[in-house]
Amino acid sequence: MAQSLAEMAVEVLTTADGRAKTALGRRHAAAWFSARAAGRSLPIGHANPPDRPARPDRPELLAPRDVPRRRPGTEAGRLALLHAVAHIELNAVDLHWDIIARFTGQPMPPGFYDDWVKAADEEAKHFNLICDCLEALGSHYGALPAHAGMWRAAEDTAGDLMARLAVVPMVLEARGLDVTPGMIEIFRKAGVTGAVAALEVIYAEEVGHVAYGSKWFNWLCGRDGLDPKEVFHDLVRRHFHGVLKPPFNEEKRAEAGLPPDFYWPLTGE
Ligand SMILES: [Fe+2]
Ligand SMILES: [Fe+2]
Repeated sequence: MAQSLAEMAVEVLTTADGRAKTALGRRHAAAWFSARAAGRSLPIGHANPPDRPARPDRPELLAPRDVPRRRPGTEAGRLALLHAVAHIELNAVDLHWDIIARFTGQPMPPGFYDDWVKAADEEAKHFNLICDCLEALGSHYGALPAHAGMWRAAEDTAGDLMARLAVVPMVLEARGLDVTPGMIEIFRKAGVTGAVAALEVIYAEEVGHVAYGSKWFNWLCGRDGLDPKEVFHDLVRRHFHGVLKPPFNEEKRAEAGLPPDFYWPLTGE
């Protein structure tokens, strides 16, 4: 019997090393899509995802207030920024495999899995692109401390697929759309063309991940006769700690299916 998609996801989640985790994930994504193209989908199956994914010994994980702040106008600051992006991308790999493995108890159309396997595969690419940049600059992922607590959003929404969609793609990944153009500018000004190219790939593909989130969130609301905006506000208020911070990238958010009346009321203003 072929390995199920849920089992593949758990295998990725329980692989600690970043390069090994992403290589395995990319192989599994290729197997999923080649089976889909051949008209014989792999079974979704069921598996037990770990509460927390396996991670390498390095980077050292620190509380956000203890992670040293460096100014982006310096070379050390730009390295720290790239290191933080690598950490976010590795977390995103696990987040996308986790949504695949965690909610198999509720039947979803195969297209739901297509979207998250594609997103997970793209996050693996993003992690590797940023690691390549770090290595080209004489550093590597693990050389600096990183934020602990990135998995909190996953833990807080482990029991509710709609809450997971609201908080992870529609709040956290949408935030990425707001801040990435500024990051691209920092590296463009410094003439670090490799980082500019990598961040442009990330920026373009992340629109798709936010769009998958709003697509399936709206689909679930429509199926159950719920008002998506009301439910979104309620779930974000209950499961996301903090308020949303403007300025927002209204244009890219619109492209991803997030209208202003979803996010503005959550700014606390
Ligand atoms: Fe990404
Ligand atoms: Fe993403």
